[in-house]
Amino acid sequence: MRVRDPGIVAKLAEIRVELRQGTALAGLTSLGIGGTTDLLRIKNHKSLPDLLKLLDANHIPHEFLGGGSNLLVGDGELPWVVLQLVRPEPDVVLDGNFAQVDAAADLGRMITFCAKNNLGGMEGLIGVPGTVGGALRMNAGAYGMQIGSYVREVQLYRAAGRKIEVLRGDQISFEYRHTSFAPDDMMLTVILELPSKPFKVILEGIRICNEKRRSSQPLGQKSAGCIFKNPPGASVGRMIDELGLKGLCVGDARVSDRHANFFVNAGHASARDMLTLISDVRERVQKTYGVSLENEVVVWNA
Ligand code: EPU
Repeated sequence: MRVRDPGIVAKLAEIRVELRQGTALAGLTSLGIGGTTDLLRIKNHKSLPDLLKLLDANHIPHEFLGGGSNLLVGDGELPWVVLQLVRPEPDVVLDGNFAQVDAAADLGRMITFCAKNNLGGMEGLIGVPGTVGGALRMNAGAYGMQIGSYVREVQLYRAAGRKIEVLRGDQISFEYRHTSFAPDDMMLTVILELPSKPFKVILEGIRICNEKRRSSQPLGQKSAGCIFKNPPGASVGRMIDELGLKGLCVGDARVSDRHANFFVNAGHASARDMLTLISDVRERVQKTYGVSLENEVVVWNA
């Protein structure tokens, strides 16, 4: 979707929103798949209510983009514009055991920064790509920990009331890859309370998790992490592996040889290829195991 009206373009500049016309979403997602649309980069959170008012008044639909690491975007032109926060400098401010982090901060860099200041707890998340906002929205977790456990406060733009609000950690429910945020809420900043740990101890935890991840996941390849959520008590990766589906391809979309719940873009896969592969695998799992798999990856316009 294109914003062409000169009046709207001028207003965007006025409220410090950068318009990048015709942006290829493939370049903004870890899967490297997706069509084009106009990207609106928000330099200051405070302009969000004005921006949303402007979009509403002009009937311009929108979606929020974080780090694009858990996202499959459809081919072709998107029927909405995409909003993304620009990362401020600094993006993490520490106060004792509390870290105030911008939603646009890179998750791995934030964990490392806190580690250097002897704050730990999130070692398991070290290899998870994406932004802190994205991790928060879906309660990212790995190796027995999840980000939600450390959240004390979240500042967010609530689309329902069209305003910026602050929620305490205990007002938010964090479950397995799921939170009580509304789909159109936009994370702005979060306050995490992290346990004190010596840097060396945190570093050892990080090293162990990195090693586990390197040995079991296709880190160098284009993927969106795990495609499906694990059903209670089971691993989808193991099921797909047991069905002998590693290496199964539709075009350049391929079930990883290393971890069967990772589907990689091995070249120039289209969204259509990836979706066909997803539904094919889902059907085969349903047929053999009687389990109906739920996507973990977020799918846009496909
Ligand atoms: N397994 C296989 N074949 C495979 C993959 C896994 O046999 O191709 C077996 C493993 O050998 C192991 C078991 O399945 O015995 C579980 O595998 P793993 O430890 O890799 O964990 P997972 O359940 O497949 C979950 C998360 C990952 C997270 C890891 C580590 C989900 C959907 N996946 O994977 O998260 O990194 O645990 O904690 O919850 C993600 O969310 O995108 C993600 C990758």
